[in-house]
Amino acid sequence: MIVSLRDISKAFDGEQVISGLSIDIEKEEFVSILGSSGCGKTTLLRIIAGLLKPDSGEVKRFCEKVAFVFQDDRLIPWKTVISNITAVSQQEVATSCIERVGLREALNKYPSQLSGGMKKRVGLARALAFGGDLLLMDEPFGSLDVVTKEKMIELVVELRNKSGFGALLVTHDPFEAAELSSRVIVVGKAFRTVKEFRFGHPEKRDLSDNMNCAQSLMEELRTISSQLE
Ligand SMILES: Nc1ncnc2c1ncn2[C@@H]1O[C@H](COP(=O)(O)OP(=O)(O)OP(=O)(O)O)[C@@H](O)[C@H]1O
Ligand SMILES: [Mg+2]
Repeated sequence: MIVSLRDISKAFDGEQVISGLSIDIEKEEFVSILGSSGCGKTTLLRIIAGLLKPDSGEVKRFCEKVAFVFQDDRLIPWKTVISNITAVSQQEVATSCIERVGLREALNKYPSQLSGGMKKRVGLARALAFGGDLLLMDEPFGSLDVVTKEKMIELVVELRNKSGFGALLVTHDPFEAAELSSRVIVVGKAFRTVKEFRFGHPEKRDLSDNMNCAQSLMEELRTISSQLE
């Protein structure tokens, strides 16, 4: 096991954002979380990373390094792309990761000179360069065109197969979740409803299998959404 959450609760300003949640992530497992906007997904990742304390419950991490692709990029504005990444890794690794996300031309640019999708890719490169046993990704492929998104997904899969890190992906895209994960967790508001889909190793599925998995996820999302109305 790489991370274990037991009975986690978190409220902001008296509003319950996570309520009695227990989740385990196994070593080398790829788990995705799908849920509506504002249901507490980013809050959960921050708790797992140790950036936020839950009000109650227990978080156990069985790994030394946790890499994080933040939803809002969090690049250092006064540092160039390469300096943002060498802040967490060695030069050689940083350069290689920037090349792998297709940003060699932008090496010496500042975040303010980048498009939204480019900033996303720098955030991904930084997390991959940092390495670690657990990769937390908060909508890492949002604002990417479909071809670039496919390339980034292939990169994550390749590195995961090579290094065997565990991963937790937050996404709004059921097909992306199906394509990447062995387990997908569909959550309702404040994580009060949690439904797990165990799809098995993604390498063993083809396009049509993934479309069927995505369909089941979509149905669950519709059910949860109708319960909220
Ligand atoms: N630091 C904070 N202070 C006060 N409220 C917060 C804070 N962080 C999050 N919230 C609230 O907690 C709830 C869940 O926020 P969170 O960012 O976890 O949602 P999310 O599921 O990641 O949504 P999205 O899909 O839109 O990114 C929201 O109502 C948000 O306003
Ligand atoms: Mg979020």
